[in-house]
Amino acid sequence: REIIYLDSVDSTNSYAKRLGEKDFIDGTVIIAEEQISGRGRLGRDWVSPKSKGIWMTILLKPDIKPEQASQVTLIAAVAVMKGIKGVCDTDIMIKWPNDLVHNGRKLCGILTELGAEIDRINYLCVGIGINANSDEKDFGDLNTATSIKIASGLQADRKKIIAEVLKSFENYYSLFLKNGNISFMLDEYKKASANVGKEVRVITKDGEFKAVAEDISSNGHLLVRRDGGRIEEITSGEVSVRG
Ligand code: BTN
Repeated sequence: REIIYLDSVDSTNSYAKRLGEKDFIDGTVIIAEEQISGRGRLGRDWVSPKSKGIWMTILLKPDIKPEQASQVTLIAAVAVMKGIKGVCDTDIMIKWPNDLVHNGRKLCGILTELGAEIDRINYLCVGIGINANSDEKDFGDLNTATSIKIASGLQADRKKIIAEVLKSFENYYSLFLKNGNISFMLDEYKKASANVGKEVRVITKDGEFKAVAEDISSNGHLLVRRDGGRIEEITSGEVSVRG
C-alpha cells in the first residue's frame, strides 16, 4: 500500500482531493504531523496540533454508487473505534453518523468527501482525525473535545494505532465491497451507538426538532420519530444530531 507521510499540510483531505483529480493508487493513505487548515464537517475547522494526533486520509476508488458513500463513513467509524480499542483501553461510543466520543466528548471525527459524476465515484476521501495526545490547552475554549491521553491518562502510541486502524478499516471495507451494504456490521454499530434509543435534537439548515432516535437503517440512515409520529429517515449530509 502507498503511504504518503507529510510533516505539514493544509489538510490531508485537501491533499487527497488534489491527488484524486489525477491518477492515484486505490487505498493510498496520506498522513501528516500537522494540518494548517484541518477541516471538519459542516464547514467547521479541525484543530490539528503538531505531532499530537493522527491526521490522515484514505483515498479510495470504490465501484459503488455515490449514494452509497455515506455507508463508508459508518464503516470507518466502527473500524476506527475497533482499531483504537485494540491498542488503548478507552471507552468509546459512536455518535451518528461518525463521531467517536468518550464521556460525551469528541475523540475522533471523520470527514468523507467525494469526487463523483452522476452515477459513479471518481475518488472517495475518508479523512480521519484522532485526538491522540492533545492536552486540554490544545483545544482552547472548545470544551466538547477530548483525547486518548486525556481520557486514559496514558500517552497513546500513534504508530500502533495507525496500524490497527488501517487493518480494521481494510477488513470492514472489503466486507462492504463484497456485500454492497453494511448489514454485516449494523448490530455492532448500534451496540456502540450513543444515540440509538435516546432523545436527540436534529438540526438542519431549515431549523431543528426534537425526536427519538429509534434505529439505523441498512443504508446507514438514522431513523427518528417525533411526538410518536411516523418514522423519519435522516441522511448524514447537512444535519447535526445532538444528545
Ligand atoms: C468532523 O468531525 O467534523 C470531522 C473531522 C475530520 C478531521 C480529519 S483530520 C484528517 C482529515 N483532514 C482534514 O482536514 N479533516 C480530516
